[in-house]
Amino acid sequence: MKNNPTTETTLFSPIALGPYTLPNRIVMAPMTRNRAGAGNVPQPVNAEYYAQRASAGLIITEATQVSPQGVGYPATPGMHSAEQVAGWRLVTEAVHERGGRIFAQLWHVGRISHPSLQPDGALPVAPSAIRPDGEAITYEGPQPFVTPRALQTDEIPGIIAQYRTAAQNAMDAGFDGVEIHAANGYLLDQFLRDGSNRRTDGYGGPVENRARLLLEATEAVTAVWGGDRVGIRLSPINSFNSMSDSQPQATFGYVTRQLNRFGLTYLHVMEGTIGEAAQPAQQVDMRKLREAFKGTYIANGGYDRSRAMAALRAGDADLIAFGVLFLANPDLPQRLTVDAPLNAPDAATFYGGDTKGYTDYPALEAEARPA
Ligand code: PHB
Repeated sequence: MKNNPTTETTLFSPIALGPYTLPNRIVMAPMTRNRAGAGNVPQPVNAEYYAQRASAGLIITEATQVSPQGVGYPATPGMHSAEQVAGWRLVTEAVHERGGRIFAQLWHVGRISHPSLQPDGALPVAPSAIRPDGEAITYEGPQPFVTPRALQTDEIPGIIAQYRTAAQNAMDAGFDGVEIHAANGYLLDQFLRDGSNRRTDGYGGPVENRARLLLEATEAVTAVWGGDRVGIRLSPINSFNSMSDSQPQATFGYVTRQLNRFGLTYLHVMEGTIGEAAQPAQQVDMRKLREAFKGTYIANGGYDRSRAMAALRAGDADLIAFGVLFLANPDLPQRLTVDAPLNAPDAATFYGGDTKGYTDYPALEAEARPA
């Protein structure tokens, strides 16, 4: 146990997060839903979806592109045009009207894209010209990944500028903060882990170099927001998107310690893997990362009510992020409070489509709520 609380910490204990007081420890995890409109612009239906879930202690949006080059999937929202900022404003206003708090997740997919999704049909960019296994999801259906173009060293400031601009746009859109997406095999993670980074410049080789882009992007984002309204997401053992690292405990331990210099409000760790791991999952002691980080720790990865309660009780996490459970249960905090049955998620409507499987999951009947 990290400290010795006199009152037991539960999912329903309030907690301070930066300047905010969260009424509970239940976070809506970022989830790609592919329901943005033309121009990657958030729509009123997206505002309704997030507003339905405003009873979360904190909402983290679906991954949101920092630039046209950062796009990797159809109908995912962006944070780089005036229309997108106006679309996000609908979302933040709707969530705030319902009393919620919402951070925007800032994303550049790097090599997990396809020329058909890139400006001028360009090759996706990456730390190194290493093609991931599998297929990109495009507007024309799945297509094999291409070998990306390795970024030139002199292009790196432009990548950092994309994060800075998107961070400012998120502020203009009325968000309460931002989460830097450095997980799940996207650009910042591609630089960090040595399976995807074979560079020989100052951004490749030893971990001090591989972590440089992530830390410089963090510096740019915190210059806009201050550290206390910025979180970061890591996924130390997730092999999704052909990711691997030869020394994950050392790599992620280093990054976590370095991040302390920015005074970030939280570290959000995707503790598991997405889909079937290609190789046996690598081992990383997440508790060591939690101990190393001087801020709030959000745990994510297949938690249910009882595992979440146990993790909080043991002091292994401060907050728990729920993905699929929140997707299927707009009133998840209420349901967890009374330990009510949960709606079953419909995987066929996770990605793309209309309101079906998006804004039509029912809340508990009013009469089932405690008086
Ligand atoms: C996905 O669209 O499959 C996706 C997006 C962002 C993630 C993970 C998965 O972090």
